[in-house]
Amino acid sequence: MKTLIAYATNHGAAEKCAKMLKGKMKKEVELINLKKVKNVDLNEYDKVIIGGSIYAGTIQKSVTEFCTKNIDILKQKKIGLFISCMTEDNADMQLNTVFPQELLNSAAAKEACGGEYNFKDMNFMEKLIIKMIAKPSNTRENISTISEEKIDKIVHAMG
Ligand SMILES: Cc1cc2nc3c(=O)[nH]c(=O)nc-3n(C[C@H](O)[C@H](O)[C@H](O)COP(=O)(O)O)c2cc1C
Repeated sequence: MKTLIAYATNHGAAEKCAKMLKGKMKKEVELINLKKVKNVDLNEYDKVIIGGSIYAGTIQKSVTEFCTKNIDILKQKKIGLFISCMTEDNADMQLNTVFPQELLNSAAAKEACGGEYNFKDMNFMEKLIIKMIAKPSNTRENISTISEEKIDKIVHAMG
């Protein structure tokens, strides 16, 4: 049986986390981008890792839809949940609000893996918001807080 990593990303950080997970997992792992692939046959997988990134406290709609639509079959699998976000103080709180309670209760792994500000990929409004909220010293260089330790924790917990 295989492991599925189903993720959504706006600027690539959650995708980077998903690819890091795949790279570290020894067994057969498939990646799907939930913004591109809508119908997945979950019967092929015994473990499913679901991830997305946080914008104004919410996760991508494609992630929520995937969880809601497949909730019954997902509850029968070994589940890992992750978010990519930049807040450290309330990262766990964000994680615990964006996924359905039923999955949070049964998940083997739940991690906020850090995030990235990919300024070159952001639109004007996004850059403006980040300049006001996070006050980066400049917007020429990307900022990354993706934690390899958190990625390893998921890999370990998923077995
Ligand atoms: C407009 C905007 C709003 C954001 N809102 C939040 C937020 O509410 N909480 C948070 O922790 N991070 C927030 N972030 C940071 C993103 O979650 C972070 O950059 C993440 O790594 C992006 O992942 P992605 O590249 O996969 O989309 C925000 C970023 C932008 C650009």
